[in-house]
Amino acid sequence: MTTKKKSDTTLTVTGRRKEWTHGIVNPPVYRASTCLFDTYAEYRERVADPAARHLFYGRKGTPTQWSLEDAVTELENGSGTMLFPSGVAAITTAILSLVRAGDHILITDSAYDPTRSFANGLLKVMGVETSYYDPLIAGGVEALIKDNTKLIFTESPGSLTFEVQDLPAIIDVAKKHDLFVITDNTWATPLFLNPISMGADISVNAATKYLGGHSDVMMGTATAGERAFQKLRRTAYQLGQTVSADDAFLVLRGLRTLGVRLKQHEENALKVAAWLKDHPAVERVLHPAFEDCPGHEIWERDFGGSTGLFSIVLKAGAYEDTAHIVDGRKYFKMGFSWGGYESLILPSDPSSARSATTWASDGPVIRLHIGLEDTDDLIADLEAGLSAYMTHLGL
Ligand SMILES: Cc1ncc(COP(=O)(O)O)c(C=O)c1O
Repeated sequence: MTTKKKSDTTLTVTGRRKEWTHGIVNPPVYRASTCLFDTYAEYRERVADPAARHLFYGRKGTPTQWSLEDAVTELENGSGTMLFPSGVAAITTAILSLVRAGDHILITDSAYDPTRSFANGLLKVMGVETSYYDPLIAGGVEALIKDNTKLIFTESPGSLTFEVQDLPAIIDVAKKHDLFVITDNTWATPLFLNPISMGADISVNAATKYLGGHSDVMMGTATAGERAFQKLRRTAYQLGQTVSADDAFLVLRGLRTLGVRLKQHEENALKVAAWLKDHPAVERVLHPAFEDCPGHEIWERDFGGSTGLFSIVLKAGAYEDTAHIVDGRKYFKMGFSWGGYESLILPSDPSSARSATTWASDGPVIRLHIGLEDTDDLIADLEAGLSAYMTHLGL
């Protein structure tokens, strides 16, 4: 009987082909631009098929990058993976690979802000029109489809406001109208959600976050199913997208511990979120594992777990007042790129990045990333900030 490996086993054994590792546990870091050919025949053979993993030019990768591509492809259950110098580059190239001038695309209103900037900027200049949709619209997205609609972009949950999208319902509609579906899978990672197995065409990860996991490398991955991989690869090659072998090595090294790290991020985040839920300064906790998070029942149905990133909505105050929470924190420093081992805090107003829906709350939104520190220390640190905030507001 053959059974599919469990993800923790895959994380350990994937991306370790002996012809590339030569029997060492990890693939070596091949730093390369030029590859040398001794004979005309060898030169012709190496360049004959750009898709084959033959060393022929640094930009097309070496066994270090290919090992990471193989690992992510297996985890995402796709046909192939391309690597990019950032998560944003993976998102923009994935979209570009599937659209042309005159097309229309649909993007969730909860999308990461730079995804929106790309659609409203370069895509618009290129003649591709974007409509935004309510992240909770599910199959209702069908009503927004036009004759020239080409793809639906999802991000589930939204990485600031955490609405969980009904991907199966959206994918059903896309299939009916022959549209592509791309999903930003950065929050869940392939361990907790497998969009390609659900029928999506491309799954993007900002590997800068959990895949790398140590806040020391920028990278994006885009994994495509059969229908989209050739298009994705062609576009990535044409745009000259490439990553260094050193960075690929770092992400592959991070990937090996993704399973254990995520278990701890999940446990710590659930503890801190449960404590915050009962705090007098907190109106709501936006965490997919909590019942009052929009789309919680979809998270329960579709996802294998939750990770360390969630938001809280405060009961009162303005964004300037949040300085009383964030200043002087011992463990929760402010920073953008979550997914490392450390905790982060960031006041972020969602209202400016919305057009299909409106964001309304009495108090500011604060996004938290819960790292691998002891949760007693994290809770004490947050308590100090929240009580300073309440004193400041006279609550
Ligand atoms: C959900 C999501 N997608 C994509 C990205 C972009 O990744 P990068 O910073 O590597 O470009 C981010 C970064 O914060 C993100 O949060």
